[in-house]
Amino acid sequence: MDKISLIRKPIEAELEQFGALFDETMSQADGLLGRICQGIAERKGKLMRPILLLLVAKEWGEVTMAAYRSALTLELLHNASLVHDDIVDESDMRRGKPSVRSIYGNKTAVLAGDYLLSSALESAALSGDIEIVNNVSLLGKQLSEGELLQLFNTQNTDFSEEKYYHIIRLKTASLFSAATRIGAISSGASADAVSRMDRLGDLIGLCFQIRDDIFDYFNDNVGKPCGNDMLEGKLTLPALYVLNKTDDADILGIAAKVRGGSATAEEIASLVDFTKAQGGIAYANDRMEQLSAEAKTLISDFHNTEIHSALIHYIEFVSERTM
Ligand code: IPE
Ligand code: IPE
Ligand code: MG
Ligand code: MG
Repeated sequence: MDKISLIRKPIEAELEQFGALFDETMSQADGLLGRICQGIAERKGKLMRPILLLLVAKEWGEVTMAAYRSALTLELLHNASLVHDDIVDESDMRRGKPSVRSIYGNKTAVLAGDYLLSSALESAALSGDIEIVNNVSLLGKQLSEGELLQLFNTQNTDFSEEKYYHIIRLKTASLFSAATRIGAISSGASADAVSRMDRLGDLIGLCFQIRDDIFDYFNDNVGKPCGNDMLEGKLTLPALYVLNKTDDADILGIAAKVRGGSATAEEIASLVDFTKAQGGIAYANDRMEQLSAEAKTLISDFHNTEIHSALIHYIEFVSERTM
């Protein structure tokens, strides 16, 4: 069985129910909005966030209607953030197909993203749990703050890893920690358990984005264009690591041009090669290894052995994935 199937195994029935709720929600609009929503429903992603929420909810108790509503909220918010992210990143591919902005244009994509975001909030409200609504409101703020900080980070002249982690924690890990936290809350877990689950999602989410950033150094096909990050002025963990330990003036000059948006394709290729040769990818892999190891300790006392094993696969998938 492949890793994704092993991860989904203990919650197959729950995922079916989630899928029905998702499809129903995406078929509510008509006209142009309806076509956009249908396009998204037909090209679902990996559903990493609902899967995580449902696994954690099942460990801590019953999978309640509030858990389904919250899982839907997170997947809608995730999709809204991708539709908007592709505008910000001027990205024309998503999930191996043309992105919403490339089919319908930026103006329509902004509004469609807003619609998805509002549908997410509606689903959170329908959970009937004010603590969940609070968590989702906080999450929306974190996602937009992360994307904004990343945009302004191109003006920075240092290669701070701390700033990198701060940004990816907000723009990506926040969705994963919301999944684990809300999963636990929906099943009535103790405050102590909720805070432990918060850390679990944070660690998983950091790994998820580090892995995603590594994709950009290779020409593998992950359904989105590679080499885009540096073109957008983004320097990610592998490059930051080598830039902090080099005094090669040419390379530092290229890095400054990348941030300023004026680096040529050849210059970007040489920084990518330098990063690989100087151990930048290996370094990022080591960081993921450390984060995963801590994540595994946080679930070591899980009672449901099937859930425990699915989560171990989940943690491993996040840093090994090729999709
Ligand atoms: C993509 O997330 C955005 C990042 C946080 C890197 P996913 O890889 O989970 O996207 P889908 O939903 O499976 O396409
Ligand atoms: C991560 O952003 C996704 C969001 C926070 C919306 P990226 O720009 O790094 O991710 P991809 O590569 O477009 O999926
Ligand atoms: Mg992007
Ligand atoms: Mg982006």
